[in-house]
Amino acid sequence: MIYFKYKKNNLFCEDIQVSEICKKLKTPFYLYSSNALIANYRLLQKLLGGINLLIAYSVKANSNLSVLKTFAECGSGADVVSIGELKKVLKAGISSDKIVYSGVGKTRDEIYFAVKNKIEQFNVESVEELKTIAKITEQTKTSANIALRVNPDISAGGHPKISTGKKTDKFGIPISEAKNIYYIAKKFKNLNIKGIDIHIGSQIRSLTPFKKAFKKVLDFCIELDKLGFNIKNIDLGGGIGIDYESEKQDLKFLNDYAKLIKSIFKKTNKKIIIEPGRFLVANAGILVTSVLYKKTIENKSFLIIDAGMNDLMRPALYDAKHIIRPLAKKTKNKTTKKFEVVGTVCETADIMVKNAKIYKSVEQGDYYFIDKAGAYGHVMSSSYNSKSIASEIMVNNNNYHVIKKKIDPEDLLKFEKIAPWLKKN
Ligand code: LLP
Repeated sequence: MIYFKYKKNNLFCEDIQVSEICKKLKTPFYLYSSNALIANYRLLQKLLGGINLLIAYSVKANSNLSVLKTFAECGSGADVVSIGELKKVLKAGISSDKIVYSGVGKTRDEIYFAVKNKIEQFNVESVEELKTIAKITEQTKTSANIALRVNPDISAGGHPKISTGKKTDKFGIPISEAKNIYYIAKKFKNLNIKGIDIHIGSQIRSLTPFKKAFKKVLDFCIELDKLGFNIKNIDLGGGIGIDYESEKQDLKFLNDYAKLIKSIFKKTNKKIIIEPGRFLVANAGILVTSVLYKKTIENKSFLIIDAGMNDLMRPALYDAKHIIRPLAKKTKNKTTKKFEVVGTVCETADIMVKNAKIYKSVEQGDYYFIDKAGAYGHVMSSSYNSKSIASEIMVNNNNYHVIKKKIDPEDLLKFEKIAPWLKKN
């Protein structure tokens, strides 16, 4: 089932006509379909059926509490990268034995909190981090489960800024050094060596790098077992790419990805962990916006909308392509022309969609939406230019709810103080 679709030329999210929400709430806002989240989760779970699997949703893609709670109710685990994310997933009801903690720079406070909460595993990214975890467990007379995040030296990902698996990237431990570090880990009696972990990049649309990396990690795992390490968890990271330029899901790629995992790991009885972020949330969310102005400069037509790079950074940061569509399809005056759709931020980079086909008859106040904005959208937004941070709304059948309020400049001002030596107004 498709959860965002036109009925009689009007966009619906599940059973709600989106323009009805626009009557009550100011644009821009993010709109999520709860049933799309559940369907994505169930699909992945079904395709990977038959193996000992933990889906650890990568919270960084969308950390709204209602999104987390929706996945928690599906039985999902979580991949977190900060104490903030960890606190949120615990609040959403995800149990600690389903939580993995990634990231190159875990602070002592973060490690302490995660140790106290007995998470499934720390994905350790350096010897110094390993020693810090060991020290904290000794001081607190506790223990911690660890996996080493190894860097398989395989480059992958939709953009150089989201590729993580090359040996020159900051992530992980070179696979050639990992064995020695497992031996170091073994010496600390408060550390349980639980697993091995990789993550080679994001928005990966080819199976080849996955295949190479998965084989490499399995071979290494077999070697570790022979050396007596007894690895229980193999964490394959995230990275499943989606097709941003089509309305449909790329089911073939997802199927092939699942088949690949099953075929490579079918003989092992170890727990396979995956950390999907984007796949689970991207197509479950849109960014609803309205037209402020249009103008033409030297034959180039600009459409200025009220959502910009402060709301959705992806186009400016990664040249990401998102499709823009109207909330209401026109039945008359349907001819289109090309516009450069831009936000309101004072940066040339604030281009939301290049060469977008927009109705020639577009007018101020017309509603549009940016598709597949559920992943790395709201989480990366900022108040740059002292703008509001958009609200988030979730739909469930014929109900909708504001799951995060808009943050206004007045709200943000509360955190600022005028230095005492400056003159009072
Ligand atoms: N696991 C780890 C350790 C990660 O670093 C990431 C993403 C994931 C899992 C989830 O990857 P996914 O399944 O979502 O590809 N802001 C960028 C994406 C950055 C991804 C960072 N790490 C974007 O908007 O494309």
